Amino acid sequence: MSNVRSAVTDEQEFYGLSTPMELVETYGSPLYVYNENILRKRCRELKALSSHPGFRVNYSAKANANLSLLRIIRSEGLVVDAMSPGEIAMHLAAGFTPDEITYVCNNVSAEELRNAVEHGLLVSVDSLAQLELLGQVNPGGKVMIRINPGIGAGHHAKVVTGGKDTKFGIGPDDGDKVREILARYDLTLAGLNQHIGSLFMEPDSYIEAMKFLLREAEQWDDIEVIDFGGGFGIPYRKYEGQARLDMQAMGEQLHACISEWAERTGYQGRFMIEPGRYVVAECGVVLGTVHSVKNNGPRRFAGTDLGFNVLQRPVMYDAHHDVEIYREDGTPVAETMLQTVVGNICESGDIMARERDLPEIQEGDIVGMLDSGAYGFAMCSSYNQRQRPAEVLIDSDGKDKLIRRRETIEDLLSFYPEFAATAEESKKAANM
Ligand code: LLP
Repeated sequence: MSNVRSAVTDEQEFYGLSTPMELVETYGSPLYVYNENILRKRCRELKALSSHPGFRVNYSAKANANLSLLRIIRSEGLVVDAMSPGEIAMHLAAGFTPDEITYVCNNVSAEELRNAVEHGLLVSVDSLAQLELLGQVNPGGKVMIRINPGIGAGHHAKVVTGGKDTKFGIGPDDGDKVREILARYDLTLAGLNQHIGSLFMEPDSYIEAMKFLLREAEQWDDIEVIDFGGGFGIPYRKYEGQARLDMQAMGEQLHACISEWAERTGYQGRFMIEPGRYVVAECGVVLGTVHSVKNNGPRRFAGTDLGFNVLQRPVMYDAHHDVEIYREDGTPVAETMLQTVVGNICESGDIMARERDLPEIQEGDIVGMLDSGAYGFAMCSSYNQRQRPAEVLIDSDGKDKLIRRRETIEDLLSFYPEFAATAEESKKAANM
C-alpha cells in the first residue's frame, strides 16, 4: 500500500480489503477500527498460558465492552468480569451465562449488589463495609474478597491498584474481621482475587503476587475461585522495536505455579487471570483526519479530529501510542521532522503525540493511533458536545462491518425531556 507511514498495520494486514481512507470515506472520522484476527490471536495466547483444567481467562471488559468484540471473545472460550449493571447487561446480551461472569466491584450500593446477586453472579467485594453490605443483601450466600497484597505495579501512578496508596482491597491483616462478618451473615468465602496494577512487561512481579495470593488461599477452606488479576502489558512502542511480554516464559512460570500448588493442596477449583488490555489493545486503531497544519514558532502542530474525547490515554497518563500516516498515493519517506499531533478540543493539553519524529503530516492525511483497542472507545466522552465515533470490525475475511454506529446530535438532545420524542423518531428512522 502506498502510505506515508504504515509498516506495522501493513505487516498485520490490519485493514483487510479496505484502506484507512476508504473506511473513513464510508463511516466517517474519527473512527475506531478493530481487526478480528488479531483479537482472536491474543485470546488464544492467553488461553495457552496454562493447560491446567481449572485455568480460565477472565476478560476484564472495562477495557472494551463492544458487543461484537465480546461475542468474539466468548467464542474463543474466555469468561468475563463485570463491575457495573451496564457491564452485566452487555455481557448477557453478548451471550455470556451467569456462571461465566464474575462481579468485581468497588464502592457500590446495596441495590447494585442485589442486582448482581439476582443475576446469579459471584460477587467480589473489596472492603469490610462492602462485605457487611453484601451480607445484608445476600445472607447465607457465597462471596469473594479482593485482597490488597500491599504491593502495586503499573505504567502510571493512576493505574497502580495495590499498596497502601490505593483505595483497593482488604488488607491481609484483616482476616479476623473478615471471619467475624462471614460468620455473622452465614456467608461462605468462595473466592479470592487481587489486581496489583496495569501493564507489566516482565512475568516476575505478577508471579510473585500470585504466590502471595496462593499463600492467602491456604488459610481458607471453601475457596473455589482464585483470581490473580490482570495487568498483562503490550508493546506500545512498536516503531522503536519494543519487545513483547514473553508469553512462553510467562506461561511456563504461571502453569508451574498453579499446578504445583494445586497438587500440593489438593485444590480442585478455578484459577483465573483477568486481563483487559492484552486481549483488546492491539486489535484496535483509531483513525482521524488532519484538518490543519501549522507552525507556532519552532513547533509544528498537526491538528486533527482526535481529541481526548476520542482517545483519553495520552492526556490522562502521558501514554504513548504509535502514529501512522495514511495518504492516497503517498509514498513512504525517510525524511522526518518533529511534529505534535493535537485534537480539536479547546484545551492546550489536548495532545495525542508530542514532538514525534515523523514524516511530514499534511492536511487531508488520515492518521492512526495504534493499539487503541483497550481503554480507547471505552473512555470516550462527549466533552465539547462531540459525539462518540463509530466502531468498525475488519472480519477474518478482511471485510469491514459497522459494529456500533456513530452517535448523533439527536442522541445528545434525546437526554432532555423536551427533545426525547423527536430523537426517538429520528433514531428509528436512522436504523431503518
Ligand atoms: N481486574 C481489575 C479488578 C481491574 O481493575 C483491571 C483494570 C483489570 C482487571 C484489567 O487490567 P489490564 O489487564 O487491562 O491492565 N485506563 C487505564 C487502565 C486502567 C486499568 C483499570 N483496571 C489505561 O488506559 O492504561
